[in-house]
Amino acid sequence: MDLESWIEQALQLRSEKGTLRNLSISENKIDFVSNDYLGLAQSEKLYQLIEEKYKQLQLHRNGSTGSRLLAGNSALADEIESYLAKKIFKSEKTLLFNSGYTANLAVLSCIPQKGDVIFYDELVHACMHDGARLSKADRISFKHNDLIDLESKFDKHIGRKFIAVESIYSMDGDQCPLVELVALAKKYNASIILDEAHSTGSYGENGSGLACALGVASQIDIRIYTFGKAMGVHGACVAGSEVLTHYLINFARPFIYTTAPTPHSLISIQCAFEFLRQEISLQQKLKSNINYFLNQFEKLKWKKSPSNSAIQSILIKGNEEVKLLAAQLQDAGLDCRAIRSPTVKIGTERIRICLHTSNTNEDIDKLILRLHEYSISKSVIKELEP
Ligand SMILES: Cc1ncc(COP(=O)(O)O)c(C=O)c1O
Repeated sequence: MDLESWIEQALQLRSEKGTLRNLSISENKIDFVSNDYLGLAQSEKLYQLIEEKYKQLQLHRNGSTGSRLLAGNSALADEIESYLAKKIFKSEKTLLFNSGYTANLAVLSCIPQKGDVIFYDELVHACMHDGARLSKADRISFKHNDLIDLESKFDKHIGRKFIAVESIYSMDGDQCPLVELVALAKKYNASIILDEAHSTGSYGENGSGLACALGVASQIDIRIYTFGKAMGVHGACVAGSEVLTHYLINFARPFIYTTAPTPHSLISIQCAFEFLRQEISLQQKLKSNINYFLNQFEKLKWKKSPSNSAIQSILIKGNEEVKLLAAQLQDAGLDCRAIRSPTVKIGTERIRICLHTSNTNEDIDKLILRLHEYSISKSVIKELEP
């Protein structure tokens, strides 16, 4: 079979399973899908701040021109890393990455070694799985947020232990029991790798995330923060000790073999955190929108993920069914997307709703009304009831 035919066949197979992905652009709809929880990506004020700072620094450079280990390093990159470590994440050091995906890939692929074990929550993001697969360590999953299950697996394994978790889970929006996990890790001398993708910005002082908010940051060996979600810009960093970041500079292939972030990207990161320091009440505004949604949603008596965060998942079994509801919501001007299997486990397909500071009570009411209309038009409601 020639290559084109093989590719077509693979796509056809996906299509038949109802799992074919396509890029789409939805404009002028109410945003219940983006990760722009605090509205920073569309903030005119932040945009102006970045523009001014960029002009003021007179860098006269568009690109970084190479890997950090070659031509791509700069005083600006060093400065932003120190700023993030000292002023935001309370760590000895931070190391910048082009994205959260590559930061997670870097950490998981090069730190755990042969003979080590990576214990990972069954719901961690694809980038943690991919990083772990690249490592020579053994991989053992534990039930979502179930520390009893995790502990029961520790005894069966010798070798260094790593625990890979997220602060706020990307698909369910629920929170990791971080304080308890830290205590467990201490008991077994295990190292925690914490992905703060969905808590950076919206949790903690100055947007420092969940570990800082709970006062356990110093007890977590490796923390990963991303800037493309609530911070409204792009990129990521790993926060930890000096020796950790030095190790990554030496061994992390996704750091070594790639072009460093652009100066504009670096400035945007610092401006976004400076902006949030001034506008920290946005966190409160987000919380109040989440509470409004939760109160209204409760009246529907539908099953949803146990989440108090900006990510809310409404379980609708089956790819076809969830696609149908997403299409109805889209037609009503609500930008809600279906999350289908295999992105999530079969039987846990869902409408994933992201809440934002920009959503009004009327927007949320409209969403709830459409969900209600769908529920009365469908016999599947029985399945959805708790
Ligand atoms: C939990 C989690 N970690 C990491 C990432 C990747 O971050 P980035 O988009 O910066 O590559 C995502 C993105 O969706 C995520 O949800």
